[in-house]
Amino acid sequence: MIDIHSHILPGIDDGPGDEQGSLDMAVEAVEQGITTIVATPHHKNRTYDNEAASIEKNTTIFQHLLNEKGIPLTVLPGQESRIHGSMVEGLEEGTVLPLNHTNFVHVEMPSDSVPRYAQTLLYDIQRAGYIPIIVHPERNREILRNPDLLYTLVQNGALTQLTAASLLGKFGKDMEKFSHQMIEANLTHFIASDAHNVTSRNNVLAEALEHVNQTFGIDDYYMFIENAECIVSGRMVHQMEPQPIKRKKFLGLF
Ligand SMILES: [Fe+2]
Repeated sequence: MIDIHSHILPGIDDGPGDEQGSLDMAVEAVEQGITTIVATPHHKNRTYDNEAASIEKNTTIFQHLLNEKGIPLTVLPGQESRIHGSMVEGLEEGTVLPLNHTNFVHVEMPSDSVPRYAQTLLYDIQRAGYIPIIVHPERNREILRNPDLLYTLVQNGALTQLTAASLLGKFGKDMEKFSHQMIEANLTHFIASDAHNVTSRNNVLAEALEHVNQTFGIDDYYMFIENAECIVSGRMVHQMEPQPIKRKKFLGLF
């Protein structure tokens, strides 16, 4: 099992503050059957800037530590870059880091909105030869209010990654419901932990995938498992025809 979104590297963002915290996260991941984690520190999110070179260096150091401790986990370099106007330039100059040097790139939206320039930028990223993966769109308030926006972004070539804890209801009912709707409507292609620690934001990827198996069936379960493997090897991911999310009237919200 491969996890394509984790803040496992020590001391560089809001993940663990020290190596022991990162080792604890590694052990937790291995215990649930994860063999490979793409480390994705925050970048350009107004609090943390982690450029590619620094992430690569920290990933190598942490991998040596895992090897020393005999923890059977491979950590690969990646990045969770907040959407920003110079993202294509960042990719070209090598400060924005695709996942494991493939052409897949994580793109994080602000939590309350989708910037007006997002559609153009996602298009420009694709023109530059990369495939944007919008991380945790189910946690974006504008997308929750207007699911057609997500449908349009996916139709225009973006992939999306659902956070395991959202699907399990750990961020509340609205996000849990929307996560299920995203899977039903073929609007998501990956499930990842987005783990930050072993307490409040721990790794529940295996539990979420088992939930997919029980709720949506074995085909979806294997699609999510295999799509994460595609990321690491740079192969094309499985995609089904996206559908608009049907908005049901309830409590007068829609
Ligand atoms: Fe994250």
